[in-house]
Amino acid sequence: MTDSLTFRPLARADIPGIARWVAATPLWQRYNVTEAGFAARLADGLATGATIFVATRGDDVIGFVWLVARGAFNRSAYIQLIGIRPDARAGGVGRALMQFAETHAQARDIFLLVSDFNTDAQKFYARLGYHQVGKLDDYVIQGVSELIFWKRMANL
Ligand SMILES: CC(C)(COP(=O)(O)OP(=O)(O)OC[C@H]1O[C@@H](n2cnc3c(N)ncnc32)[C@H](O)[C@@H]1OP(=O)(O)O)[C@@H](O)C(=O)NCCC(=O)NCCS
Repeated sequence: MTDSLTFRPLARADIPGIARWVAATPLWQRYNVTEAGFAARLADGLATGATIFVATRGDDVIGFVWLVARGAFNRSAYIQLIGIRPDARAGGVGRALMQFAETHAQARDIFLLVSDFNTDAQKFYARLGYHQVGKLDDYVIQGVSELIFWKRMANL
């Protein structure tokens, strides 16, 4: 793996590949995400000017992040989604993509939601300086609480 990691906006051609592994990810299967449904969601994001970046290594798209600049309380940035391709996880790509999104956001505060059962992602976010400030029971699907994580950026 000699190619370096780069970041760029999502392109239409990236969508089928991302949708394939997102639909195969157990986390999103719990939310009934399908390949076609997720592809449509990304395409809609692209069409409506959403801020979605991908991480690439060579020709491979190995991750994406969806950022909403003032998506929390019309005041703070909100990380709506982040995913790393299964074979590229645990290698620092998620950290690099989050740092890229944080820099792009230029926000004093960043919020995100993480499922109560997704303890791996909770540890990941904690390593990056986020901590839980609240909990929304049955918010997206019945029986699952969404934990509200928050990070105040030190330099803004
Ligand atoms: C969660 C996810 C985005 C993390 O990306 P990643 O590339 O695997 O994570 P990284 O390798 O960059 O890890 C960054 C840091 O978090 C830590 N970390 C990551 N996963 C961890 C885990 N399961 N347990 C403990 N620490 C963990 C790493 O040790 C690393 O710490 P360090 O940089 O201080 O050594 C990725 O695994 C993923 O896409 N998971 C499935 C989808 C998902 O859960 N998305 C988030 C919820 S929407």
